[in-house]
Amino acid sequence: MLSNNLQNAINDQINKEFFSEYLYLSMSAHCNTINMDGIANYFLVQSQEEHFHAMKFFNFVNDRGGKVELKALAAPKVHFKSLIEIFEETLEHEKLVTASINSLMDIAIKENDHALISFLKWFVDEQVEEESTVGKILHKLKLIDGDGHGLLMIDNELAAKVFTPPADNA
Ligand code: FEO
Repeated sequence: MLSNNLQNAINDQINKEFFSEYLYLSMSAHCNTINMDGIANYFLVQSQEEHFHAMKFFNFVNDRGGKVELKALAAPKVHFKSLIEIFEETLEHEKLVTASINSLMDIAIKENDHALISFLKWFVDEQVEEESTVGKILHKLKLIDGDGHGLLMIDNELAAKVFTPPADNA
């Protein structure tokens, strides 16, 4: 059984994951309007991954006999000045999510909840990968400095991304 403290903290995390889904969907919509179809695909897949993250927490609360309480979602940003701005905000957002997962882990350790500690390890690893991937794309965007040929190469590269949930977590 989850403690009330942990249940509340996980319900907050569920909201953050669903907000991430919403934010990346908004970024995808914006990229569509500027004809960056590959980058739009990248953010669409990111939003699907965030939905998957939210549902992992959702199922965990249910499995532990807790009560999921969904909260209101804030409106995501809809206007962006540049692709660099989008990826800078994505990186900042992922850092906030990492901090949130880490503080959830701190509470789990403090409360000696071994099942939650084990469960959260997947998210700790996932955040390392997410920050790394976004950081690399941001670095490339800065490197090409608005060059059309370079932008099309990145757009083509990100067009190939597909959502594939991990086999043991589907
Ligand atoms: Fe669910 Fe991108 O962290």
